[in-house]
Amino acid sequence: MTTTFRSRSIGVLISGRGSNLQSIIDAVADGRLDARIAVVVSNRADAAGLQRARDAGIEALHLPARDYADRNAYDRALADLLTARGVELVCLAGFMRLVGDPLLGAFPNRILNIHPSLLPAFPGLDAQRQALEHGVRVTGATVHFVNTDLDDGPIVVQTAVPVLDGDSVETLAARVLVEEHRLYPEAISLVLEGGWSIVGRRFVRAARS
Ligand code: GRF
Repeated sequence: MTTTFRSRSIGVLISGRGSNLQSIIDAVADGRLDARIAVVVSNRADAAGLQRARDAGIEALHLPARDYADRNAYDRALADLLTARGVELVCLAGFMRLVGDPLLGAFPNRILNIHPSLLPAFPGLDAQRQALEHGVRVTGATVHFVNTDLDDGPIVVQTAVPVLDGDSVETLAARVLVEEHRLYPEAISLVLEGGWSIVGRRFVRAARS
């Protein structure tokens, strides 16, 4: 059975500057991504991305973890909030929390994340620093489905970025970020098209006639 979506409503979860959120907003605005951003939620009040959402006329909410007894309670609140707004696909864009069972259960294979490395290399924090220090010649960005483990779920798309001799963490991260901004809207579009399934760990699109 391949996946289909009832609507193209997405929710975006952020914790910080929100440049990937902006790339999604821009892609929707200029027609590259046929989707509606129903809501943006941040666990941090000072996330610059909240203002980016408001500037685009999108509902932007701060949901502080300290208001909830534990991670499950927080994730349940998130799931309720997203479901109430008709969200069909959740996009993590610099959301600095592990996602737990209540949210994963409410959106099975319907939560995406973007990570600034070629997973499974360099999961977790400071992926670009990890790549530079390891000495790889090529790194990149990955959009993947979220599961209970950090940066671990089935991979939707990846793109490669060369590591140059003179790179610092900052120059490398900046070049990776340019690719992230192209890749994430494309990945969301691909996923929302439906007609795919997860086979083992693989994202498999049905053959087209
Ligand atoms: C991006 O590098 C993304 O890949 C990672 O966190 C960073 C978020 O940046 N998950 P921004 O908030 O989208 O600007």
